[in-house]
Amino acid sequence: MKSISRKIKNEGEKIGFVPTMGALHEGHLKLVDTAKKYTDFIIASIFVNPLQFGASEDLRSYPKDIHYDAKLLENRGTNILFTPSDKEMYPEEYDTSIELPKLSSALCGATRPTHFKGVCTVVCKLFNIVAPNIAIFGEKDAQQLIILKKMVADLNFGIKILAVPTARESDGLAISSRNIYLSSQERKDAPVIYQSLMLAKKLIENRERNAKKIKDEIRNAISDKLTAKIDYIDIVNKKDLTQVNILEGEILIAIAVWFGKARLIDNITLRIP
Ligand code: PAF
Repeated sequence: MKSISRKIKNEGEKIGFVPTMGALHEGHLKLVDTAKKYTDFIIASIFVNPLQFGASEDLRSYPKDIHYDAKLLENRGTNILFTPSDKEMYPEEYDTSIELPKLSSALCGATRPTHFKGVCTVVCKLFNIVAPNIAIFGEKDAQQLIILKKMVADLNFGIKILAVPTARESDGLAISSRNIYLSSQERKDAPVIYQSLMLAKKLIENRERNAKKIKDEIRNAISDKLTAKIDYIDIVNKKDLTQVNILEGEILIAIAVWFGKARLIDNITLRIP
């Protein structure tokens, strides 16, 4: 992969990189579309990274269909699909990790304490192997995006990170590889996450600035659905992910909710005038 990437760059082409864990959907393909808009040669990777799954999480059952995924990527104009094995990425003697402890302890990090260390470690390795000019990530994983931008700046990667808006079903539900775990009742209830974010937006447009009041309204809306089990509802400063009490500046409203086996996340960013 390294020598191919060097050759492409020597030929004067810009590489756009879309790292994934497979189980691809329209959200991933939109990342490929964006890569194509800004670069000449598209590399995607599929690697289900064991380091970013907690002991009780869905590593073993994570959906996998590499041939179907490869077809989707090819049809959308991906030039190379990189699929390293676990052993190639983490040989027995492997011993290095990358951690951004402050940004990683907020939001999802509270219930998934090792998740972002796993994400940063694998993305750091993938960046070193693929050596892209631009890498593209989805806004659905807002915390991941913020952490990776900081990692790239802190470690002087010289790779531009582009963010692509969350792809949604027609009822607003954020498209996710984990939506396939939803039962039909859970699927009916799950759009409440996006509806509650829109409710929060409306409250803020009507000049509500008290974070607790907004979070209470979101909680009430989600709790209305019997299949929903809230993990967290947070309003944080977008720059450092610290809690906000009175809304000002650029804020992130982020939510994680369990519906049965599926833990779904979503968020919106707002700039408070
Ligand atoms: O967002 C994902 O799919 C994963 O966290 C990533 C960035 C591919 C790292 O494994």
